[in-house]
Amino acid sequence: MLPASLIVKKRDGGELTRSEIRFLIDGLVTGQVADYQIAAWAMAVVLRGMTPAETAELTLAMFESGQRLERDSGQDGGSRGRRPRLDKHSTGGLGDKVSLILAPLLACHGVVVPMISGRGLGLTGGTLDKLESIPGFRVDLEPAEQSRQLDRVGCFIIGASDRIAPADRRLYSLRDVTGTVESVPLITASILAKKLAESLDRLVIDVKVGSGAFMKSLPDATELARSLVETGRLAGLETTAFLTDMDQPLGRAIGNAIEVNEAWEVLTGKGPPEVAELTVRLAAQGLADVGLADSSEAAVEGLRRSLRTGAAAERFLRMVEAQGGRFTGKLPLAPMTEIVAPRLGHVAAVDCARLGRAVVELGGGRQHLKSPIDPAVGLEILVRIGDPVAAGQPWLRVFGELEEESMRELSSAVTLADEPVAPRPLILDTLGGNR
Ligand code: URA
Repeated sequence: MLPASLIVKKRDGGELTRSEIRFLIDGLVTGQVADYQIAAWAMAVVLRGMTPAETAELTLAMFESGQRLERDSGQDGGSRGRRPRLDKHSTGGLGDKVSLILAPLLACHGVVVPMISGRGLGLTGGTLDKLESIPGFRVDLEPAEQSRQLDRVGCFIIGASDRIAPADRRLYSLRDVTGTVESVPLITASILAKKLAESLDRLVIDVKVGSGAFMKSLPDATELARSLVETGRLAGLETTAFLTDMDQPLGRAIGNAIEVNEAWEVLTGKGPPEVAELTVRLAAQGLADVGLADSSEAAVEGLRRSLRTGAAAERFLRMVEAQGGRFTGKLPLAPMTEIVAPRLGHVAAVDCARLGRAVVELGGGRQHLKSPIDPAVGLEILVRIGDPVAAGQPWLRVFGELEEESMRELSSAVTLADEPVAPRPLILDTLGGNR
């Protein structure tokens, strides 16, 4: 089979067969198909799309290019009996620290959470970078350590080793430099190939929508959510997708150490209500999906209780300790400067891209995969869309140093209206899953 004929077939809108997709992905991993041919094929996919069957085949081929986290009796609860395996994935957004809270929270409710997370790139932060702001925290556990931790603690959060979906790693690096990242089937296969490697019973995906997210509009985000649910079903991983608002940051903290501090507040029953609410709703859906609750509504109160009583906080500390971290409740932050509202009004919009750029400029985010991160810098946004503000009221805190010009730019990241503005709903829609 010649790769060129497959590229032409896709370019002309044809549907590739299972063996044709396997041929391309095997060739990508072994180096027998040239990078430029894979890139040309990826562009044909961007322009022509893929059918659900093709997307599922691509997902499975990329997953099978690597290893999976094996499920053995130890991982599933040992003497405690079989426990369901569940994970949550987010497509990424500003201030999204849900994973830090959700993994230990679910572990308190009889679920095993083997979470493989990523690093931040560009405007959105990465869960691994946030956790690494805890001194000593290790994101690279050996398989035996992983099993032991799932058995004893019920959750871990680690990075993907080279053995997890290596085809995705190679394909993503080609897509990144050839303008082919933004394709719903390619994004779908990339996300699900890595999640299939976790040997899960169910997956919950939080598709972020808005100016601070990958998907800026509701129709685009809905298309991705549908594709994730349908491909998950075809590939053997039942998935529920939430569409949630990212026209403003989630919670107040944006950065690394500062987000761990906020996650800790939520874990101890405090913190911004919207962070707790979204975490509880995603976790409740997961419990309903694996059959540990009659409905997601029925699971909500128990999950809230675990935040109020400190049970989830205690589980977080056990996870951190098991992964070598030393955390006593508050990580140090860089010196702070406050920005105040210029006049009276109502918060109408927040420019997430501008906030994200400021975090990168402070040194808290990265332009390139290998750039170092300063964990102590970040932002705190003290207002949400719909809030009334008075002239001179503090509305942004900057931890770290910015040039005067950037400080001025940052001051205009929040737009005021004269008339009252309705607050935005947090959860816009849910697709798939048990109710
Ligand atoms: N996240 C992924 O893991 N893959 C993509 O292609 C895009 C976002």
